[in-house]
Amino acid sequence: MSIVSRLLNPSAEASESFEIVPMRRRHVKSILTIEERIHPKPWTAGVFNSEIDLARRGERHYVVGTLGSEVVAYGGLMFAVDEAHVTNIAVAPEVQRRGFARRMLLRLANVAVERGFTALTLEVRVSNTAAQAMYRQFGFAPAGIRQRYYENTEDALVMWVHDIDSPEYRARLNAIAEDDR
Ligand SMILES: CC(C)(COP(=O)(O)OP(=O)(O)OC[C@H]1O[C@@H](n2cnc3c(N)ncnc32)[C@H](O)[C@@H]1OP(=O)(O)O)[C@@H](O)C(=O)NCCC(=O)NCCS
Repeated sequence: MSIVSRLLNPSAEASESFEIVPMRRRHVKSILTIEERIHPKPWTAGVFNSEIDLARRGERHYVVGTLGSEVVAYGGLMFAVDEAHVTNIAVAPEVQRRGFARRMLLRLANVAVERGFTALTLEVRVSNTAAQAMYRQFGFAPAGIRQRYYENTEDALVMWVHDIDSPEYRARLNAIAEDDR
């Protein structure tokens, strides 16, 4: 069932729950239909496939969010020495504001903690206050600006959350999980 027909038939949507599963090459076509609508400079199939290959080697972790058989969201992490870097997170416009991005970020943050990383970082457009609000819920705080990072025009806000290996951060993630239940 497509997103459009699901929106026309809300009871069908209610019977399909949001699931988070590892990203595979077979998801890339669906991912691109979302990516190309929401990003001025979308990643290509080649970039996603290469990231999936790196995930197989343990250097990345990518997930997709599904409603029934349909991919409606995706996101991922790149692993550095001590920190994990959120590379991409997106939700199809039709199903935004339902907590799907928060649930994916929760999954990604838990993966980073389980793998023993001590910090999470990311870049976000200075104009993207919606995403920044979500990152703040996870404890991310602004740490600097990368000038003209996007399309050589818009600045990126660099955000970090440290001490993700602490009991306090574990409690924060548990509280987010409880709220979304
Ligand atoms: C940012 C994005 C991933 C959020 O996805 P989503 O599933 O709609 O987000 P959620 O419903 O999980 O919301 C989580 C929090 O994000 C913030 N948020 C999300 N959308 C928002 C909006 N339109 N306005 C204000 N805050 C918003 C809120 O703090 C929200 O928490 P709340 O519901 O308790 O208020 C989505 O808007 C998107 O795909 N945008 C385009 C791609 C993008 O900007 N990605 C981030 C790149 S760094």
